[in-house]
Amino acid sequence: MPGTHSAALPETSDRREPRAPGSRIRSFVHQRNRLTEGQQSAWDRWWPEFGRDVDDVVAGGSWDPHAWFGRDAPVLLEIGSGMGETTAALAAAEPEIDHVAVEVFEPGLAQLLMRITDAELGNQRLLRGDAVDLLEGAVAPASLDGIRVYFPDPWPKRRHHKRRLVQPGFVALAASRIRDGGTLHLATDWPDYADRMRHVCAAQPALELRDESTPDSGWSRRPDWRPMTKFEARAVDEGRPVRDLLYSVVHPEAIGDVRSVTG
Ligand SMILES: C[S@@+](CC[C@H](N)C(=O)[O-])C[C@H]1O[C@@H](n2cnc3c(N)ncnc32)[C@H](O)[C@@H]1O
Repeated sequence: MPGTHSAALPETSDRREPRAPGSRIRSFVHQRNRLTEGQQSAWDRWWPEFGRDVDDVVAGGSWDPHAWFGRDAPVLLEIGSGMGETTAALAAAEPEIDHVAVEVFEPGLAQLLMRITDAELGNQRLLRGDAVDLLEGAVAPASLDGIRVYFPDPWPKRRHHKRRLVQPGFVALAASRIRDGGTLHLATDWPDYADRMRHVCAAQPALELRDESTPDSGWSRRPDWRPMTKFEARAVDEGRPVRDLLYSVVHPEAIGDVRSVTG
């Protein structure tokens, strides 16, 4: 795992089958890390109840999160939940919202299972796999209340920038899956990635920046409700600005029919 989260989320080999060059964003490295004993036992006990594989969801065609939760609440998708610290805290703080985390890192998903079952949270579900596959293949247009992408892998080397998740095609795809008035929320502590995110989102006509920190700054205020993780605290201690970008989706139909993302 490149960047600031390397201690928690180690880098290993890529799992995705190779596709045609340029045909997609390869934003993650596959983590075939072993689960700890505690993670394995949480996985065996709770995954069948709270988790599903993205590939199975996509194979099933259109995906109905309301049926999965058994109620008709707003649905937020978090992409790249890592070890699940923020994810579980927000699910606990927002019981009226249903939360779906999509992540490729299995130990992180297992850790999130432990957090949600310890806290007896009924409003969190987990998906294992590539968020882009999920958005492309299973999430209906204008169906989500929001998408959160907190501290995505920064891929700091220039030659790896093409692996960054937040690129024009991804932003169009994500925005197209959010309902009119819903929210896209990005956060990063990586300055040039933050600038790039802001630039890419400013060029997407369906997005309108919210909660600007100061007039014309182009950044949103850090929302009080987003939990402060140890990674973010370290960034602040080391003098790196953490940037939040909150956008409302306006007229998602104007984005058109986005079926796939090529970067
Ligand atoms: C740097 S970590 C940040 C984790 C967490 N959001 C946090 O703030 O601590 C980024 C996470 O995104 C995951 N990720 C990257 N690309 C992904 C994708 N296309 N689909 C699902 N997860 C992805 C990685 O596996 C990694 O766990």
